Amino acid sequence: MAFPRSFNSFAKNRVATLAPFFIALTLSLTVSAFALPEHAGAEITLVNSNPTHPVGRLILLRAEIARHDDLYFRHNASDISDEAYDSLKRELTQLEQTGPQSGTSGPTESTTASLGNDHTEGFASVAHRQPMLSLKKAYTESDLRAFIHRVEQSTGRHELSWVIEPKFDGIAVSLTYENGRLLRALTRGDGKQGDDVTKNVLTLPTLPRTLPQGSPKLVELRGEVFINDADFARLNAQREEAGEPLFAHPRNLAAGTLKTLDSREVAKRHLSIVFYGLGAWEGIPAKPASQQALHALIKAWNLPAVDTITMAQTADEVCGAVIRLGRQRTALGFPTDGAVIKINDTNLQQQLGASAEAPRWAIAYKFQPGRVSTRLRAITLQVGRTGIITPVAELDPVEIGGTTIGRASLYNAEAITRRDLRIGDWVFLEKAGEIIPRVTGVDISHRSPTAVPFIFPQTCPACAAQLVRNEGEAITRCPQRDCLGQLRRRIEHYVSPEVACIKGIGPALIASLVAGQRLKTVADLYRLRRDELMNTGNVSEVNAQQLLAQIEQSKNTSLPRLIYGLSIPGVGRTAAAEWAGRFVDLPHWAEATREELSKRDSVAADAVILFFGRPENRTLIDDLVMLGVHPKNGNHPGKIGKLTNITVVLTGTLHSWTRAEAKQQIEAAGGHVADSVSRHTDLVVAGEGAGSKLAEAQSLGIEVLNENELRKRLRY
Ligand code: IVH
Repeated sequence: MAFPRSFNSFAKNRVATLAPFFIALTLSLTVSAFALPEHAGAEITLVNSNPTHPVGRLILLRAEIARHDDLYFRHNASDISDEAYDSLKRELTQLEQTGPQSGTSGPTESTTASLGNDHTEGFASVAHRQPMLSLKKAYTESDLRAFIHRVEQSTGRHELSWVIEPKFDGIAVSLTYENGRLLRALTRGDGKQGDDVTKNVLTLPTLPRTLPQGSPKLVELRGEVFINDADFARLNAQREEAGEPLFAHPRNLAAGTLKTLDSREVAKRHLSIVFYGLGAWEGIPAKPASQQALHALIKAWNLPAVDTITMAQTADEVCGAVIRLGRQRTALGFPTDGAVIKINDTNLQQQLGASAEAPRWAIAYKFQPGRVSTRLRAITLQVGRTGIITPVAELDPVEIGGTTIGRASLYNAEAITRRDLRIGDWVFLEKAGEIIPRVTGVDISHRSPTAVPFIFPQTCPACAAQLVRNEGEAITRCPQRDCLGQLRRRIEHYVSPEVACIKGIGPALIASLVAGQRLKTVADLYRLRRDELMNTGNVSEVNAQQLLAQIEQSKNTSLPRLIYGLSIPGVGRTAAAEWAGRFVDLPHWAEATREELSKRDSVAADAVILFFGRPENRTLIDDLVMLGVHPKNGNHPGKIGKLTNITVVLTGTLHSWTRAEAKQQIEAAGGHVADSVSRHTDLVVAGEGAGSKLAEAQSLGIEVLNENELRKRLRY
């Protein structure tokens, strides 16, 4: 079936252009990322609108919204999803409400209810008797309360009578009945004149062509053409059977169908109609005195009326009714994207009047969609702390459940292949009762013919190592433990509240300290100096001081947390807690055999053996202990340290420790460090270039250890 050009505009069939706007928007948004535990396999980025220059932002927003309106209404194209568009509108509303400092004339002259123009070639344009306005939108409860407050203020009345109706998600129409007969059906058009869709509207099965006796000489009835849930499902089932692409959105389907030039096709679609408002009214009887009376009249005239209406008096009652409607929305049987809140009394409505675009006596509250669609701009790879590679969807920022989402985890390569996600696709994002939105599918009907299947990269984005995917496993890994991407994540994990809870060090600071080679292991956190933080990390003196205090405090981190904090692949919190209950301290656990470790979890035990098979990981434990991170198992209080009551003398140059570090290590093991060798000396640790002290120790028969031997001694 051939749709006229503007079907595409209604169906929001997006063109594949990466508009300069997207770049500008991305640059002007504040992006903050937080990583979830790697085993959760996910990361999302929240993108908040927090412009530094509200006026500049306002101008940008207005220009962009105008550009989208122009694309949508006049050029039958769009490069933004409905939800992303709504996000822009919402941000504009908020900025406009900040009033004079934003350089605007305030909320009453908002452009956020702009009318657009749905005119389509092939349809005659006919003037409305009374302008067909749009509604201003509220996106939050506080927007709604602010609106109610404004109306209360300007009428000087509290406890007004409000009507709450569902906001039907279709296309607005105005039907004129003259002398009781249907004369014409128009779309809104530009608000002053609309497209004549009478022929198509006449195919609607539930629409009477005449009004009963006693109706006024002329009446313009305002309402919505939509497709109900059952008909939408039926149409899509038919298309599925025929192997045709499915309709993605009921509103686009209703709008596109109404603008079809072939009325026989319209008849097959079974569109519905509902009436909720009035335009012109001429002759007797008088206009209904209230919105409630209008609904009753619509019913009395056998026209399809709004069934789900609630009355309310206070802002609390209105908000309660809106929330309840939001809960019922999926069970209503028709598509709704919000609630419309109207003043009941017709005289009061008249008193409040309207701006050029919207009445001042009504507002549309938009529900947060459970599912939104947006554009998949890229798929990037995130390197996890144990090397797991997680593909991440980079999306056009879109609002869902009160948060703007620009990124979402795609979990693994398999999940991409299974859904055949392609760059440039329109994807569905869902947040049904979950905290993390998930990409749940692709809108194939909007796929560009040039889109190609995604090829999973072969190399690690952080260290360029060849990625590994074992036979039969869904997970792809970077095998390079010293990959800087992994290291950054390990340190992020270590400082997180789950492990050492070190506040004041985030991903950006970690990245610069890793890049500056100040952090090569988590133990290096305990070696950080104030000047390094200030120079390499660009941290202020005060913050550096506070951070160092936090790091110092984290030396008390408990044994299970520390084991978990080492980011050993396959070692989670449960295994860590079990070992922490059985081993005296970190060194004892690190030295344990496979048999000792594998009482409960042999896979995790193998992982630990493999981990400590690498000398640098043993050194890590030594370093942590030496630097004062030496938690003891509470089940073994008073356990004697490795060097309890031992007096040690250090001589020569040590390579892996400074003198101070070695001293700390010895003292942590219960030892005491003396400056000179005497008969009271139990042990001498001799580094490179050791001279007279070593000779003296040898002459007194005192045990002498080199650096490595000391490390070993401290472990047992
Ligand atoms: S009253 C003066 N009531 O939502 C404006 N509109 O976004 C009168 N809509 O233009 C509109 N359900 O197309 C009203 N119960 C309802 C509605 C409703 C859906 C549409 C209508 C309107 C748009 C505003």
